[in-house]
Amino acid sequence: MARFTTDEALAFINAMSLTLKGKVGFRWMLEKLSALSEFIESLAAENDSLRDAAAEEAEATSGIVIGPASEMDLVDVLQVEALAFADDPAVESLVRDLLRDPSAAPVVSLLAREAGRPIGHVMFTAAHIDGSERDVCASILAPLAVVPDRQRRGVGGRLVERGLGVLEASGVELVFVLGHPAYYPQFGFEPAGARGLAAPFPIPADHADAWMVRALRPGVLGAVRGTVVCAEAMNRAEYWRE
Ligand SMILES: CC(C)(COP(=O)(O)OP(=O)(O)OC[C@H]1O[C@@H](n2cnc3c(N)ncnc32)[C@H](O)[C@@H]1OP(=O)(O)O)[C@@H](O)C(=O)NCCC(=O)NCCS
Repeated sequence: MARFTTDEALAFINAMSLTLKGKVGFRWMLEKLSALSEFIESLAAENDSLRDAAAEEAEATSGIVIGPASEMDLVDVLQVEALAFADDPAVESLVRDLLRDPSAAPVVSLLAREAGRPIGHVMFTAAHIDGSERDVCASILAPLAVVPDRQRRGVGGRLVERGLGVLEASGVELVFVLGHPAYYPQFGFEPAGARGLAAPFPIPADHADAWMVRALRPGVLGAVRGTVVCAEAMNRAEYWRE
């Protein structure tokens, strides 16, 4: 059976209310719809707080703590990048450069620690869309790194989910990534090219599905098209080969 999302249910109720408005005898129905709408919103709020509590509990029991990376954490951040991308030292330089690049702001930089040891890091940096009819608040996920001996335990997933939550709360509408097409769809990413959103540098056709987007606001995907412009530190062809 098809199910409504919270947003769709509220939009449906709103549309019904508009249809019924002004029609004699439907006041009772309007009141019920309004009560139903409030009930759905309260369920959504309860669901959010249960999800947050579950995430906190999972963190407490797993011993892995994820939090914002400060300047004091720079050495740890770079160590995680160096271990995860041992065959690609350019990634460590990219992180260093992005952290001091004003065009990358606002940056979301999160570090995962296990018993104090840095084991994972994710960064999101600002982007905008050239050619779009309106300003879109966008961000690019890069890089995501988990140290080799802690991979495949959900740390990368938790870093991505946490980052998306921070971005959503701060009003970011679209998040882009150039990455493994088998990994990111579980977090809601989908091919961006098919949505009319081109990468800063052309992605070869046989890797086109590695360029992905995740909408954090309903109604944005499909409504905006253009070419994504990344932070200056990332605006080099060698960072855009997948
Ligand atoms: C990619 C990476 C960040 C994933 O982090 P992680 O903590 O190991 O991932 P999670 O535990 O959240 O998820 C594990 C699942 O992701 C998928 N996955 C992990 N690495 C993958 C990869 N390289 N390609 C495709 N899928 C991958 C698998 O489905 C895996 O599940 P499985 O163990 O049951 O097969 C980590 O492997 C890493 O740092 N790799 C080196 C650097 C890198 O490639 N970064 C990503 C750039 S896009």
